[in-house]
Amino acid sequence: MHRKLPIIVVTLVVAVFALGAWLNLRVAEPPENAAVGGMVVNVNIGGPFELTDHTGARMSDDALRGKYALIYFGYTFCPDVCPTELGEIAVALDELGDAGKQVTPVMITIDPERDTPEILAEYVPLFHDRLVGLTGTEAEIKDVAEKYRVFYRRFEDPSFTFYLMDHTSFVYLVDPKGAVASMFRYGTPPEDMAAAIRQHMRARTDS
Ligand code: NI
Repeated sequence: MHRKLPIIVVTLVVAVFALGAWLNLRVAEPPENAAVGGMVVNVNIGGPFELTDHTGARMSDDALRGKYALIYFGYTFCPDVCPTELGEIAVALDELGDAGKQVTPVMITIDPERDTPEILAEYVPLFHDRLVGLTGTEAEIKDVAEKYRVFYRRFEDPSFTFYLMDHTSFVYLVDPKGAVASMFRYGTPPEDMAAAIRQHMRARTDS
């Protein structure tokens, strides 16, 4: 599946590794009123979307109703932050054990130009067997990103033969009714994510 990369490309990838990480870590401050890390979020975050999943099928946010969802915005070419965060999401789901089955992990690409359904189909199983990869047209991605207050932009350097994406890296916990229940900052330990999700699940069963 993986092509052998010329040594120069490998060297460049290594060179931009730290840069990419730095860019991604330079995340914008969370929107006002958003208590990040397991609490209440501004009700205006999130909303409906219709995108294309990694099998090529159209999928709307309705498909996520009835279960929790952990939504992450990223891109497959990301050298560091995205794979790290997707790995953390997978660990959080494992941590939840059986309850983890009530959570659908979702990655929405902010790089639809490169992230076709075919590319996503190769990428998502590397992290979790239930991870859903979503892509769409530039306009569809712009729309959903705006709804989630996700900032992203193409980052180009004349010395690279490829581009990177600068983007915010929050994980959104969406409840079974489609409301964003929590946001987790990049680097939130998976066990903290799992604990917050458990808390939300318990609060729902109690009410
Ligand atoms: Ni990234």
